[in-house]
Amino acid sequence: MLFRQLYEPESSTYTYLIGCEETGECVLIDPVLEAAERDLTVVQELDLRLAMTIETHIHADHVSSAARLRSLTGCKVAYPAMEGLACADIGIKEGEPVAVGSLSLRPLFTPGHTDTHHSYLLEQGGQARVFTGDALLIDGCGRTDFQNGSADILRRPNASESGPCRSIMKPKAAR
Ligand SMILES: [Fe+2]
Repeated sequence: MLFRQLYEPESSTYTYLIGCEETGECVLIDPVLEAAERDLTVVQELDLRLAMTIETHIHADHVSSAARLRSLTGCKVAYPAMEGLACADIGIKEGEPVAVGSLSLRPLFTPGHTDTHHSYLLEQGGQARVFTGDALLIDGCGRTDFQNGSADILRRPNASESGPCRSIMKPKAAR
């Protein structure tokens, strides 16, 4: 597996690149518009093909580069299905894994920051990584007072959902 953590300083967003070395496919989780070219350069340097962008939720603090990357590369655009977005090629649901070559991302429904927020669990080689979006930040969580968020329904990603694997949370940076 190829893995990169990419940082966009204006919105303090971490974008994650996950690549399958067997097939050359990769995905970007929560890519940022201003960093689209930078991210594509990383994809090309790793000799990967961008198969899909995946969002944890609709972002209020930055614009996703999903549409731009789709126009540049032909990749698919995936959002939580609950958003009902006409622009999405793929609707993501808990219980329906997303394949990245030979790798598999498990969507976890983690509402609270927004009412459709999903995190993604990746188990590989005895390790689990959880890409938490704004459901879990470094030293906090995303605000719950708009975008249909609610502290009452907050469900943070649970490392124990990865079973016996050693888990590493991959949160967004705190602002
Ligand atoms: Fe957010």
